[in-house]
Amino acid sequence: MALKEKILQLLEANKGKSISGNKIATQMNVSRSAVWKAVNLLREEGYSINGGTNRGYCLTSDNDKLSEPAIQNMLKTKYIGKSIDMFKTIDSTNTFAKSLAQLGAESGHVVAAEHQTEGRGRMGRQFFSPNCQGIYMSVIIRPNIPIEQAMGITACAAVAVCDAIEESIADIESPGKREGNADHCMIKWVNDIYLNDRKVCGILTEASVGIEQGGLDYVVLGFGINVNNYNFPDELRNTATSIRLECGESVSRTKLAASLLNHLEQRLEELGKSSLMDEYRRRLVLSGRIIDVENNGITERFECLGVDDIGRLLVKRGNGQELALTSGTVTVLS
Ligand code: BTN
Repeated sequence: MALKEKILQLLEANKGKSISGNKIATQMNVSRSAVWKAVNLLREEGYSINGGTNRGYCLTSDNDKLSEPAIQNMLKTKYIGKSIDMFKTIDSTNTFAKSLAQLGAESGHVVAAEHQTEGRGRMGRQFFSPNCQGIYMSVIIRPNIPIEQAMGITACAAVAVCDAIEESIADIESPGKREGNADHCMIKWVNDIYLNDRKVCGILTEASVGIEQGGLDYVVLGFGINVNNYNFPDELRNTATSIRLECGESVSRTKLAASLLNHLEQRLEELGKSSLMDEYRRRLVLSGRIIDVENNGITERFECLGVDDIGRLLVKRGNGQELALTSGTVTVLS
């Protein structure tokens, strides 16, 4: 039997209890780092194992594989999540959701996966989507609003994720939080979500405009949340984080996914109201900061003034001219 299976057997037999890495290593006659590697392989397969080399390992009593019934059991929504396509692996939930939307899928339909091979981020970037560690979920909505208000949907999505992540952190009984503000989510315009100055979630919003109805045909909101990731590739290590890394405990992805859908439906009811944009502004990290905004390969430096009621980024050029931006990638300088 492979080391990984032997460790799983031991953890299963002691479910809910912590066993030190040292004890496992001695019992299996291997090094502690071999134990650590095997535990990480089990996590990649979807086993929820808390702890680390110095704190002991504990297989949590709940199975946290995402499934349509498990998520739906926790939904309080009227239309979001009433039908969910769940995949073990997919190229991109957004790509699939967009093709379903084009074929007429209903508003509220959800596509989710345990793993994405071609997870997409904004501006053609990739989104790191390791197996069973995050939430990769796309929601189709068909809002009956003028195109000018479309950015408000993005604000709904960003605020709903913050609501849901904070709720899941509040659920942790004894969080071993890192120094800093690890239970408060901030938003970097347009819709990157930060915990403790590192990105914990990205949202990719893709929309189709219906020429006949003169408005939005559909919007696909794609959420990528780093939930129980225990590490990141080198190029992301200094900028990305997960809830688990910030709080020291795994959280239930099923509960978080359901909570996100619940909050999203509630926040969508606030579309066009000042309460929504006030909440978005309250969480905005950029106000008063000096930023670079990159658009189509051109980068310009501004002072950030805030976000207006339809979600545009208000900025001031060095010469005092004020602008309202609708797209771009922001880097905070000071
Ligand atoms: C970003 O950070 O620029 C946005 C990342 C969005 C990632 C999510 S994961 C689910 C959905 N499917 C995708 O291919 N992308 C989004």
